[in-house]
Amino acid sequence: MKIILLLFLINMILMSESFLTKKEYAKMLYHNPRGIGCDKCHNDDATGKVLINYIHKAKNKTIKALDLTKSTKKEFIKILSRRRDKKSIMPEYFLTKEEIEALYFYVNSLKKRQKIKNK
Ligand code: HEC
Repeated sequence: MKIILLLFLINMILMSESFLTKKEYAKMLYHNPRGIGCDKCHNDDATGKVLINYIHKAKNKTIKALDLTKSTKKEFIKILSRRRDKKSIMPEYFLTKEEIEALYFYVNSLKKRQKIKNK
């Protein structure tokens, strides 16, 4: 009986380690990386949004955070691994390779959900 109880306790400890699923972790990172959340500019569903409309030299201009569901894994990793252009509005994050992959995993899961919605 004691052994069963002990095994049960060990199991509880092991389970608690993986309490956060991969998707939950990736979602958390998307909304709360070390810095301003990606959702603030790219939207909850990662399809991007218009950040500002303004007039420059009598021309209408728009700054838009891009639709992330359109970028390929390769582009996504490349954009987030290299130093940001100083002129870019998007901040620099210094994410690890694992974090970038988790973010892509999350954006990709949103992409799949959208496809289902559109059907
Ligand atoms: C302050 C607004 C802002 C935040 C916050 C932000 N971005 Fe961006 N992002 C942009 C803008 C604007 C662009 C368009 C290109 C540029 O200006 O550099 C962009 C471009 C990108 C691109 C390139 C898309 C392509 O197809 O070329 C990726 C990938 C990306 N963002 C991912 C992220 C992720 C992941 C996060 C969170 C860790 C994030 N962004 C946070 C504004 C933002």
